[in-house]
Amino acid sequence: MHSQSQSLFAQSEKPIGICSDHAGFQMKAYFLSLFEEKGIVFKDFGAYSPESSDYPDFAHPLAIAIEKGECYPGIAFCGTGNGINMALNKHQGIRAALCWDTEIAQLARAHNNANALVLPSRIIANEEAYQIMVTFLNTPFEGGRHQRRIDKIPVF
Ligand code: RB5
Repeated sequence: MHSQSQSLFAQSEKPIGICSDHAGFQMKAYFLSLFEEKGIVFKDFGAYSPESSDYPDFAHPLAIAIEKGECYPGIAFCGTGNGINMALNKHQGIRAALCWDTEIAQLARAHNNANALVLPSRIIANEEAYQIMVTFLNTPFEGGRHQRRIDKIPVF
């Protein structure tokens, strides 16, 4: 089921930035073991243990790394996905999308040019989450009218 992701990851120029809190730790570990197996380059911003933790502590460093161009895209996990998504989206350069199925993931890329994928680890299974990521990474941005809308998102 992971074969579709191989070609995309082979084209990746930057490490995938990844983070979670304790609630997303197990799902992040599942992703990291697959990344290691496939030789996919990533940077892990924590959490580094399943001990109770605060999602902003991991979301902000990941967001800054994406904004600096050090990582692309970002993938983040927390229990519902909401908390880590809110923290990521405080950064002007981040368009993080909370996705619980492949259709939302596809539209998050095609219409919103999302640069971070957020997955709700207590709501969906590991395999579903991985498939959502494959869809996210394989969907190009459509541009056009969607670029005009994206340009209106930042608040100064
Ligand atoms: C942690 O218990 C949980 O609140 C967190 O992972 C997330 O769901 C918050 O939005």
